[in-house]
Amino acid sequence: MFFTKLAALATVLATATSSLAAAVPLEERRILDVFTPAITSPKAGDVWIVGEKRNVTWDTSSPPSQITNPNGRILLRKGETTTNVVLASNFSILLGTVEVEVPKVFLDADDYSVVLFGDSGNFSPKFTIEHNKTLSILPF
Ligand SMILES: *[C@@H]1O[C@H](CO)[C@@H](O)[C@H](O)[C@H]1NC(C)=O
Ligand SMILES: *[C@@H]1O[C@H](CO)[C@@H](O)[C@H](O)[C@H]1NC(C)=O
Ligand SMILES: *[C@@H]1O[C@H](CO)[C@@H](O)[C@H](O)[C@H]1NC(C)=O
Repeated sequence: MFFTKLAALATVLATATSSLAAAVPLEERRILDVFTPAITSPKAGDVWIVGEKRNVTWDTSSPPSQITNPNGRILLRKGETTTNVVLASNFSILLGTVEVEVPKVFLDADDYSVVLFGDSGNFSPKFTIEHNKTLSILPF
């Protein structure tokens, strides 16, 4: 009895979901075609050391057939603010990876993220940027 009800509920839900998709007007579906690839690296909690090289990577498995702006740019973000620090620019967002040099940030902190711009902006989870502690006695 319980399972019958569950199955019935699942059918109702599936019907509701598919009619929802069908109800999205064409205009809005075009907007959904904008390529906002998920950033796969850096990950939450990663630690980047100032001056080192790191790869920013993103998922290119499902690009739309038309991309308005394939020219990528990566900016640094701190907290909820996108800074004007450019980590990389003028690369194809279809590449899926670009090597960047960890910028000389003023503050070591755990709330940095990167923003990938192309067709639209998408930002990574928050991660840490810190200076190499073994060099911290040097005046830079
Ligand atoms: C970034 O990726 C490229 C190609 O996959 C690799 O050759 C390079 O060593 C990577 N750089 C870093 C800092 O991991
Ligand atoms: C951007 O990349 C393209 C293709 O690689 C190159 O022709 C162009 O000169 C680059 N522009 C800048 C400003 O670096
Ligand atoms: C920090 O700097 C020291 C001295 O140059 C170097 O040996 C070490 O590998 C660096 N550590 C990291 C995590 O980059």
